[in-house]
Amino acid sequence: EKGLRVQDKGFLNTAVIRSGITYIDGDAGVLRYRGYPIEQLALKSSHLETAYLLIYGSLPTNEQFKFFESEVMRHSVMHADAEGFFRSFRYDAHPMSMLTSAFAMLGSYYSEANPSLQGQRLYTQGNAASLATMDRQIYRLIGKATTLAAMAYRVRQGRNFVTPPTGLSYTGSFLYQMDHLSEENYTPNPVLEKALDVLFLIHADHELNASCTTVLQTGSSLVDPYSAIAAGCASLYGPLHGGANEAVIRMLISIGSPQNVPAFIEAVKRREKTLSGFGHRVYKTSDPRSFIVRKTADEVFKVTGKDELLETAMALHDAAMKDEYFIKRKLAPNVDFWSGLIYRAMGFPLDFFPVLFAVPRVVGWLAHWRQMMLQEGGVKIWRPRQVYVGAGKRDYVPVEERE
Ligand code: SDX
Repeated sequence: EKGLRVQDKGFLNTAVIRSGITYIDGDAGVLRYRGYPIEQLALKSSHLETAYLLIYGSLPTNEQFKFFESEVMRHSVMHADAEGFFRSFRYDAHPMSMLTSAFAMLGSYYSEANPSLQGQRLYTQGNAASLATMDRQIYRLIGKATTLAAMAYRVRQGRNFVTPPTGLSYTGSFLYQMDHLSEENYTPNPVLEKALDVLFLIHADHELNASCTTVLQTGSSLVDPYSAIAAGCASLYGPLHGGANEAVIRMLISIGSPQNVPAFIEAVKRREKTLSGFGHRVYKTSDPRSFIVRKTADEVFKVTGKDELLETAMALHDAAMKDEYFIKRKLAPNVDFWSGLIYRAMGFPLDFFPVLFAVPRVVGWLAHWRQMMLQEGGVKIWRPRQVYVGAGKRDYVPVEERE
């Protein structure tokens, strides 16, 4: 029809926006946030400073950062009603389901979340009122992401909720609320707090991955950002995407020991098993984040002790990297291959790992959403076409005449 071409399965090589936020060179294994190499930011910046950079386009001055941080932390408190919402889940509900639902619930709290109001106000893009509304929505979502995640965790632990403390960093406050070391007055270990902050930072954005595309597809109808973020969270939940960090650990546990790695590799080559944590749609040499995660793991293990799965992970990594099957398909470790080992060593429950991906990724989703809201010429709804390959015109057949 009218020259439409199916752009392969899964948007294999399709660009749908112009963006100034994140740059990836898949062949060179390069990742930059607003031009800054991820390696430099991981070393010198923090997750919240990088959040400002991704959303507003430049590194903040001291004053800008202080204001941004105080707004995010101020908005991290959840309305007491949210406790009833979380208590409505079974104790063993998957935390990603709870978090996805909680983002959607967030939208029910705020008047500007009303789509018609939302559309009208934001559609006049760029005026002071709409910019201020968007900023407040951004502070709320970043601030509350950690609180909602911690509330989901506490439901699983059958424990009461914790009000976000004051005076701690963004990541420190999250760890305090998680209190997963089951000490009441848990003060974050600086090495673990820094390690998690680096992991948050490198997970913050990754241009148009499946979940970010979902946020923009949803947000393009001018629905409120809370609902758009809920949609993105649902997409990230899948094992081909953010769920991979959980799948990697389940894979390593099933392999059991380095001795079983060769047999597992053969099963993968027979397509009976998936090597989770390997391969990437864009990176065809290496995912630069995987090196940062691997190095961070060594820092964490100094405090927590080595994870017994590390030997199996290293044996699997070395075997796959030398094997023609993976080399030919340009498969290398992605960000998810090593990160689960760190979360496990830090004591997070296995099904909580995708939540640890979603919390920082809220930043990237919001950076792209704001960019779309402010784009030249206003927001266009995303409505792709199809090539129809179904039946031609035919007439209705009464049921008694059908065989
Ligand atoms: C993330 O997009 C992003 O940027 C995502 C992300 C982000 O920050 O947002 O980087 C985060 O999601 C990382 C990816 C986490 N997912 C996994 O680790 C799951 C395992 N990986 C695969 O499912 C796969 O590699 C994908 C989904 C990541 C990418 O899939 P593609 O681009 O569609 O590649 P493909 O399936 O077409 O694979 C090409 C070939 C195929 O072989 P052939 O059929 O051509 O013979 O490589 C094979 C695939 O079978 N292959 C694998 C493999 N990944 C691809 N074979 C074994 N193990 C794997 N992991």
